[in-house]
This record gives sequence, C-alpha cells and structure tokens, in this order.
Amino acid sequence: MEVVILGGRRQIGKLAADAIEELLRRKPDAVLGLATGSSPLPVYDELAERNSRGLDFSRATAFTLDEYVGLPAGHPESYREVIRREFTDRVNIAPEKVHGPDGSAGDIPAACQAYEDAIAAAGGVDLQLLGVGTDGHIAFNEPGSSFASRTRIKSLIEQTRRDNARFFKSLAEVPHHVLTQGLGTLMEARHVILIATGAQKAQAVREFVEGPVSAICPASILQFHPHATVLLDEAAASAL
Ligand code: GLP
Repeated sequence: MEVVILGGRRQIGKLAADAIEELLRRKPDAVLGLATGSSPLPVYDELAERNSRGLDFSRATAFTLDEYVGLPAGHPESYREVIRREFTDRVNIAPEKVHGPDGSAGDIPAACQAYEDAIAAAGGVDLQLLGVGTDGHIAFNEPGSSFASRTRIKSLIEQTRRDNARFFKSLAEVPHHVLTQGLGTLMEARHVILIATGAQKAQAVREFVEGPVSAICPASILQFHPHATVLLDEAAASAL
C-alpha cells in the first residue's frame, strides 16, 4: 500500500486525475470504478476540466460502488443520480456505459449477481476510486463484512446512517439497506485509489493503514492489495 500525504483536496484531485488520465491514454476503453461521497469530488472536478480540454471518456465504461435500497427512482440522493450530477453528466462518457447496482429491483439476489456479471463481462475494473467511512467501511461494506464478499444487500449501522443524514431532510429518511460491491469484488480492481481528507477520518486511516488486517476495519484489506494508493491530506494523516 502506497500512502501519499498531500497539501489539500485540490492536489489530491490532480494526482488521482493524473492516474485516470494516464490510464485513458493507454487504454481508451478503460473500466473505471466510481465512488460517491465527498472525498472523490475534487477528482471529478479535475476530470471535468480535463475533459473540456480534450481528455476523452467516450470509450470508457464505469461502475459505481453501491446504492441505497428503496429510494424512489430519480430520488436526488440515489447514488445513480448523485454520480450523474457530480461526474458523468460533466464528461463525454456514454450514459448507457455507466452502471450501478439496482436498488429498486424486485429480486435483489438476482440484481446483485447481474451486477457482478456485468463487471466481469466488461473485463473487470481497471481503476477503482474509494472513500472510507469513519468506521473504516469501503463502499458500504460495514465492519464485520467478509473479505470474500461479493455484491449483496447490507444493513447500514447507525453511525453510517448518521454520517449520511446530512444529505437527507432527516435521519429517518436515510435508508436502512443498501446494495454494495463486496470486499472480494473490490479487491479484483487492478488499481485502487482511496482518498481520505479531514480530521474526522484520522482514526479510520490509522486503523486501516497501520492496524491489523481485520474485518472489524474493512478498509484494512487493502493492505493485501497488490496496487493500492492512499491519498491523504495532513488532517487525515494526523494519527499516523
Ligand atoms: C458513503 C459511501 C462510501 C464513502 C463514504 C464516505 O458511506 N457509501 O463509498 O466512502 O460514504 O463518504 P465521504 O467521502 O463523504 O466522507
């Protein structure tokens, strides 16, 4: 695991965008793994800017990490809408090449398997962006998630619902269930870039970078990933 401590969110955005630009120039039909949350936003801003200057996403495919279960179609906080607003509508990626787990499916296990199949059919993820939860979760793999897990339904713990309540009118509106790529799914991405900023992430960063590899801290599995890059600002790195 390579840990890089940078001066701020803008610099983090540029470094991650450099890796994505290098990938797209080498492999124009690359498969990108996209994350929601505030951590990757500077990357998306930087990529939108580079797209306006000619960086081409037209042959790329994208897969998002996770989705709430039970939000009505088109709900502004469904991750399908969030990723569209924050990234994919701002670059020239084809909308039909942007995939996410179907949180409104009637048959949830079938939808999860279909998502795994779609990732495999695309040839797997070349570069996966990740944030990390204050409890060490990645995607929505909460503490205790199996390292071998695949895309499936999960219950959110209260801390995560509270962390995410800022996007909803009230805590009561935050769904209790989500679909998420599993830790086993994420570990198959060829390159993982995890971004964490701010003092509220310092403890989780310390645990997953320096602590034991344990399901109690799901992000710690990245210690076993052959190509994982962790981009931190000084506040997020302050407990290392
Ligand atoms: C949610 C998402 C995660 C994300 C986390 C942290 O729980 N499912 O993918 O990493 O929030 O979000 P933020 O980057 O806003 O701190």
